[in-house]
Amino acid sequence: MGIVTVATTPQADLHDLDTSAARVEEEGDDAVRRAAGTGESSRASRHWWDRNADEYQDEHGEFLGDDRFTWCPEGLDEADARLLGDVAGRDVLEIGAGAAQCSRWLAARDARPVALDISYRQLQHSRRIDLGRGTTPVAVVQADAAVLPFADASFDLACSAYGAVPFSADTAALMREVHRVLRPGGRWVFSVTHPIRWAFPDEPGVEGLTATSSYFDRTPYVEQDEQGRATYVEHHRTVGDRVRELVAAGFRLVDLVEPEWPAGLEQEWGGWSPLRGRLIPGTAIFVAERG
Ligand SMILES: C[S@@+](CC[C@H](N)C(=O)[O-])C[C@H]1O[C@@H](n2cnc3c(N)ncnc32)[C@H](O)[C@@H]1O
Repeated sequence: MGIVTVATTPQADLHDLDTSAARVEEEGDDAVRRAAGTGESSRASRHWWDRNADEYQDEHGEFLGDDRFTWCPEGLDEADARLLGDVAGRDVLEIGAGAAQCSRWLAARDARPVALDISYRQLQHSRRIDLGRGTTPVAVVQADAAVLPFADASFDLACSAYGAVPFSADTAALMREVHRVLRPGGRWVFSVTHPIRWAFPDEPGVEGLTATSSYFDRTPYVEQDEQGRATYVEHHRTVGDRVRELVAAGFRLVDLVEPEWPAGLEQEWGGWSPLRGRLIPGTAIFVAERG
């Protein structure tokens, strides 16, 4: 099976990347807090992740591992946490899968995963890893999580490790989409930056320990080029917002996991560091069940 592309993003132009030009543009980008809707956010994400997938996999591929499903920079593994429950024989949708490391771990445990991502380049890395291992390729689909290209009740489980959720403008709609494609009783587990981190600068050092923004300010973080076009967007929701969006979509919240920084882990990941991790949570993992 090749990479199935489903153009669910408005005005999708999926293969028109000029990565060298785009990289130059990025250097002059401004970081601002301003509104960014669904179309603008999805377009920015698709292009940003296509341009940066190589660097992301280069930098984090070793941590993400060859046979590992990790939820977060704190290194909480599904093998230990078992937030999805039994996975053998289950149809699993991984959303914002990147190079599908989690799906590969699931397939090795007899699950039937489908790895979905908006970035074609990220999914090409999935192919690269499968080819290198000589294993059956993970089924991958290029699509926007805002409009999942699957029939109702197609999956037993859905998961996302820092996948599409932080990058989507309308996460209430995303929750409804996940609810639609899950079977009754199905679990939906996703990790995101812990909402409290939005009050602090995204820095691994001491400067990342002083609150400088309001936790309650939901204005998106946007990097934009000289023409004011968004090149990277992240969206903030408070803990309460996330709970309300899940419940409104028809989910029951089962757990909210805040992994602690483990003793002995010295590896930083962007703004996630041992210094900050020992003082404030870096990740929130929501565990929900479809009614
Ligand atoms: C931080 S990476 C995480 C990737 C992977 N889960 C991991 O742990 O390495 C975020 C991923 O979400 C994907 N993404 C962002 N917005 C998306 C959207 N609207 N729909 C689907 N995928 C999206 C990006 O392309 C990227 O691969």
